[in-house]
Amino acid sequence: MLTIENLNQAYGGSHILRGLSFEVKIGEVTTLLGRNGVGKTTLLKSLMGLVKTKSGSITFDGKDITHLPPHQRVKAGIGYVPQGREIFPRLTVEENLLMGLATKPGNTPIPQRIFDMFPVLKQMMHRRGGDLSGGQQQQLAIGRALAMGPKLLILDEPTEGIQPSIIKDIERAIRMLAETGEMAILLVEQYYDFAESLADQYLLMERGEFIMRGRGETMPHDGVRKRWRFDSGLLAWHAALPFVVVGDGGFGSG
Ligand SMILES: Nc1ncnc2c1ncn2[C@@H]1O[C@H](COP(=O)(O)OP(=O)(O)OP(=O)(O)O)[C@@H](O)[C@H]1O
Ligand SMILES: [Mg+2]
Repeated sequence: MLTIENLNQAYGGSHILRGLSFEVKIGEVTTLLGRNGVGKTTLLKSLMGLVKTKSGSITFDGKDITHLPPHQRVKAGIGYVPQGREIFPRLTVEENLLMGLATKPGNTPIPQRIFDMFPVLKQMMHRRGGDLSGGQQQQLAIGRALAMGPKLLILDEPTEGIQPSIIKDIERAIRMLAETGEMAILLVEQYYDFAESLADQYLLMERGEFIMRGRGETMPHDGVRKRWRFDSGLLAWHAALPFVVVGDGGFGSG
């Protein structure tokens, strides 16, 4: 469905993505884990054509899309739910969903399955997007990406800042979409349990490279959680380090 080969990306002089290769398969959820700033969103933006790739190739549905502009990737069947949701706050829920149909002929209706999945969107159809709660906005952003019937759905940290009950609804929706067997899902996450429960395949990223990867069912035995905790712990330790060093330096020089 989606094949990435040796993908490299840089912002100015800083090399962000380093020779990434992986495949996202239809009927599966591929989860990409990685802590803050490792390059997860940059990878998704590269897949959507929102940032230029330096080298490598992206093949979707048998076609090379490496140099296609974003709107043509959407038209080709890639739905994208960006980090932070990015719904249109001044437009109603209905208008937001219709924006998701922009690549379809004018009178295409909003697919009923979006309302079956997230009934709250039906109830709040005429409310402004900006007046919805964070969790409802996330459901709206997913609904908008689903409106045009994508073959690949890309989600960037859908659980970020969202209450547990809505996280459960989103988890159910993602599982259901994958199980139709008609869609591939690429999910970026930092919420480990959510990622593990959904993963058919996992990738763990560190500084623009994959340091672990495998099948979802082996995640608990592969020690991914431990590695994840270690990295997060290391981060906390790094954050505390300047104070330790400054303290020692102060005593030494005094
Ligand atoms: N437009 C940009 N110009 C320059 N550097 C950028 C730009 N966008 C992101 N970066 C840098 O690239 C690196 C990767 O950022 P990215 O947003 O891909 O990380 P992330 O893994 O999605 O992090 P988070 O979990 O916090 O969302 C970071 O060091 C970030 O500061
Ligand atoms: Mg990000």
